[in-house]
Amino acid sequence: MSVKIGEHIDLGEFPLLLAPMEDVSDPPFRFVCKQNGVDMMYTEFISSEGLIRDAAKSRQKLDIFEYERPIGIQIFGSDIEHMRQSSEICSAANPDLIDINYGCPVKNVACRGAGASLLQDIDKMVAMTKAVVEATHLPVTVKTRLGWDDSTKNVYEVAERLQDIGIKALSIHGRTRAQMYKGQADWSMIRDVKRNPRVKIPIFGNGDVDSVEKAAAWRQEYEVDGIMIGRASIGYPWIFREVKHFFATGERLEGPTIAERVEVCRTHLTKSIEWKGDKTGIFEMRRHYANYFKGIPNFKEYRMKLVELMQFDDIIEVLEEIKHNFTEEVA
Ligand SMILES: Cc1cc2nc3c(=O)[nH]c(=O)nc-3n(C[C@H](O)[C@H](O)[C@H](O)COP(=O)(O)O)c2cc1C
Repeated sequence: MSVKIGEHIDLGEFPLLLAPMEDVSDPPFRFVCKQNGVDMMYTEFISSEGLIRDAAKSRQKLDIFEYERPIGIQIFGSDIEHMRQSSEICSAANPDLIDINYGCPVKNVACRGAGASLLQDIDKMVAMTKAVVEATHLPVTVKTRLGWDDSTKNVYEVAERLQDIGIKALSIHGRTRAQMYKGQADWSMIRDVKRNPRVKIPIFGNGDVDSVEKAAAWRQEYEVDGIMIGRASIGYPWIFREVKHFFATGERLEGPTIAERVEVCRTHLTKSIEWKGDKTGIFEMRRHYANYFKGIPNFKEYRMKLVELMQFDDIIEVLEEIKHNFTEEVA
């Protein structure tokens, strides 16, 4: 059965979503994920305060492209009126939906009354969500965690109350705020939410899916409507293609060859320069090289070169060298 968000977004059967990730899920990275079959994507989270102040960094994150659809813009904040205003600003950027972040655990978000901190004040969370839902014609979705800490795992209540005021899907990261990213994600409460007969909206599971096997096993075990993948896609956008292929055929695809890794890395770099300009595009791509070439022996030496170069052509030359050297070795 097809998963739908609101009336108009049809994600097909068991969609895979790219998790919103600050400094990662920008348009260049989203381009390579889209090439690899991801069904829906989100922007990095955007500060409502930044949007209202017209801060350039926040505004730039509103850039979305037609080929990215369906795409959601994710916002966070602590002030209900500012969240309302910023959802109007986001609507004008014409995404397919607006997502609210009630999951971010990092201090300067969660300790300033935004992100996961709303899990400590469900009434405020409901009021904030209602204000956003009423301020936009677009579907509104939410991403959150199991609760604030072990003694307040309230996502069951959150799901019911947010559905009642009109959100159209809920993504749940199977950790509490107190866990940050430590320990293992626990999806059993995500299944409880999904099994609640009152809950009709799609429930997406998130946290620690990093292989085809896990995606297949957790799909069965936790009964979710789709899976959201974050860290495992960094430097490995093929995860979407591999999981989708497995679900469609029951067969496991071979991992990417070195030539494919180089090709996708080159595309990512090219898009990065197109969108950010030469200097920033090249600079911000540096954090990705090691991820694209994980597992290659002695990659450090190449990485050292890649992160020093300032010219596109020089970087491409090193990438070609990697392709040449490692393809020969395998052949
Ligand atoms: C570098 C990084 C940045 C993140 N930024 C965001 C964000 O902007 N918004 C958000 O809702 N979650 C953010 N997250 C959390 C992820 O969306 C996701 O919930 C988390 O990484 C667990 O999923 P995973 O195990 O598949 O990575 C971020 C995570 C990472 C690692």
